[in-house]
Amino acid sequence: MINRLSKSKLKLLILTLLLFLQPFFAVAQNDTDISFFPNKSIEFIDLLVTVVLITVASIVVLLLKLISNTNKTANDQTEHKKSKFKEYISNLNASEIEVIKRKRIKSNNGLSLAILGLLYLVPQIIFAQTGPAKREDIFSEPGIVITLVLIFIPLFFALIYLVSKVTTSFRNYNNFQKLKEAEAFAAFISDDENMPSDSELEEIKQKSAYEVVPNEISAGKASHDSKGLLKNITSETNYRFFATKRPPIKRPKIDPALTKLVLWFLGTAVFWLFVGSSVGEYVGIKFIVPDADTYSWLSIGRLRAVHTNLVFWAWATIGIMGLGYYIVPMVSNAPLNSIKNGWTALICVNFAMFVGAITIMAGINNGGGEYREIIWPIMAIWAVGLLLTVINFIKTIAKRTTTEIYISNWFIVASYIFILIVAFIAYIPMGQDGIGETIVQGYYMHQAVGMWFMFSMLGVLYYLLPQQLNKPIYSYSLGVLAFWSQILFYTVIGTHHFVFSALPWWLQTVAIVGSVGMLIPVVAGTTNYLMTLRGSWSKVSNSYSLPFFFVGIIYYFTGSFQGTAEAFRSTNLIWHFTDFTIAHSHITMYGIITFLLFGGIYAIVPRLTGKEPPQLGVGAHFWLALIGLQFYTIPLMIGGTLKGLMWAEGAPFIDSVVMMGPYWLWRAIGGTLMWLSHIVLVYNMYKMMQPTVDVDVKQKAFEIINQNLETNLAEPKI
Ligand code: HEM
Repeated sequence: MINRLSKSKLKLLILTLLLFLQPFFAVAQNDTDISFFPNKSIEFIDLLVTVVLITVASIVVLLLKLISNTNKTANDQTEHKKSKFKEYISNLNASEIEVIKRKRIKSNNGLSLAILGLLYLVPQIIFAQTGPAKREDIFSEPGIVITLVLIFIPLFFALIYLVSKVTTSFRNYNNFQKLKEAEAFAAFISDDENMPSDSELEEIKQKSAYEVVPNEISAGKASHDSKGLLKNITSETNYRFFATKRPPIKRPKIDPALTKLVLWFLGTAVFWLFVGSSVGEYVGIKFIVPDADTYSWLSIGRLRAVHTNLVFWAWATIGIMGLGYYIVPMVSNAPLNSIKNGWTALICVNFAMFVGAITIMAGINNGGGEYREIIWPIMAIWAVGLLLTVINFIKTIAKRTTTEIYISNWFIVASYIFILIVAFIAYIPMGQDGIGETIVQGYYMHQAVGMWFMFSMLGVLYYLLPQQLNKPIYSYSLGVLAFWSQILFYTVIGTHHFVFSALPWWLQTVAIVGSVGMLIPVVAGTTNYLMTLRGSWSKVSNSYSLPFFFVGIIYYFTGSFQGTAEAFRSTNLIWHFTDFTIAHSHITMYGIITFLLFGGIYAIVPRLTGKEPPQLGVGAHFWLALIGLQFYTIPLMIGGTLKGLMWAEGAPFIDSVVMMGPYWLWRAIGGTLMWLSHIVLVYNMYKMMQPTVDVDVKQKAFEIINQNLETNLAEPKI
């Protein structure tokens, strides 16, 4: 197969491999002082390097296959021109083709295995020269082991997906080449020179001149194509790399007043995502260029709070509210109780966030309480918006025409009740002196995440996942188990943020036990969603929303499990105060909540407006966000761990800051990709919401007929 690669391609390939391996060789020559990885823990690096190398090796092998196949086709065509073409047609039978194919695969496999083996051995050889490695006990801790495994689960799924995508493309490409090949055969056969005899030539000429007339099958009589079989024929002329998405289906009309309200909620949510993540992007850049500006309004301390408050209380909150305004009336099978209250709520939350962001930048804030930096009078307006909404929802559910209250409504209504209580407790000054403030902080920030964002989005998923798959949820009982167990465990885990603090030891232990208990709702929920998806995987690739939901579900499992692993005393000792927490925040708030919100937007907005987003736009949004998130979180997890270990070894703080430089650079690169994906989302929203200009003649005609019928019926008969 190597012979089939052109020299330049081979050189490029070797160069790429050498470049990739260069840092490891550099490590091999270093003493233990300065190295590519500042940390000396070989076990962790070994594991990481091995996974990365296997990933790269798999991709290289697939690429080699693709290149060799392209070259093979070119060589074959040359051979055809050297007069073996005729023999090839007449002599090869199906089983011989199979034998050749098998042989080719075998030789490819040989090389693949050799490359894989070589790449696998490289880190072993390199690290063998670094002298006695200092083994850290931390890596034998169960919490660390669990977390490392969890870090690689999304990578593993991404790899499987990538390999299946490349393999499918490879197969499609093969078929496409075969079609081309068939055309070449036809041209060859039409050539007089190659015709074996006059009679055969005549036969072929007759065949090629043959044309089907429209009434061929009806034997000359007038034809009727009532099923549109002939009219709807399409011919594929280009090779398709991306699967075509399902064409939009006409949806039943939803109350235009509700449609407008939901679109405003979702539209403003996306606006805040753009603003909030632009601020996050700037903060991320400032970690690399701290002196980018000298304005107090743009200092990291203020902008960081603007970012967190906007993505929490504007983007995610307003997005969740928008989805709720669609889902609650839908599953209650009743109209929304009050559209007017919905508008008031929308104005309240948007106004509060606008003023809140400006006040934080101006330096007017609520002190050190994280995620509650916005002063109470402004947050009170925000809370009024949520209160009006939950009252609206409860009244709508009370008017439902279904006997049961569907599980989505349980989750959604409960999440509003929780966040209102939690926010109230966070803002009242009583009991917030000294250590009391710390307890409230843990209670507030973790319940905001778990009992508001997570709880409501799980409810949203219980409606949208079955809706998008057009099948019922796998188990109602698992949903109920997840509901009650999340309430039981999530409400006690807040203080796991303050392990080893001055808080009572038993309170810390309760939080750790609660964190382990969280595995029950997480496993129940994940199982329920995955089992609902089971048997419908093909729908994921041709849907706009399901890939986002799928990523959200996988991160729900890994992100939550990671939280459990972080809560143990042994792991907390290393990770607390490091960038590992920032990675965890984005894995959960972005990987779970934001991805589920993206899926919700793509599921609902086209239903409301009747307009699908551009396929390329959704693809770009998905991949930029997903790849960006990997670049954001993985370096921070590595850097955060190294930082924790450095501190444990007693290294000066400033050394850990210097060490983090490259990891923060990667975070900024990942953040930029995520940010770009948000610009694409804004464009997609515009495409889905732009005012209709085309009139659907058929639809309009039927509307007129219906209108006339209704008027005739209403007129009194004389
Ligand atoms: C372009 C996208 C984003 C970028 C570039 C970005 C960047 C950042 C940066 C630089 C920080 C400060 C980290 C530090 O103090 O070391 C941060 C914190 C945070 N961000 Fe983002 N972010 C983005 C999107 C989001 C979204 C969409 C959410 C949630 C829905 C989110 C949630 C958070 C949270 C919760 C924190 C605080 C983390 C902690 O203290 O544990 N971010 N982000």
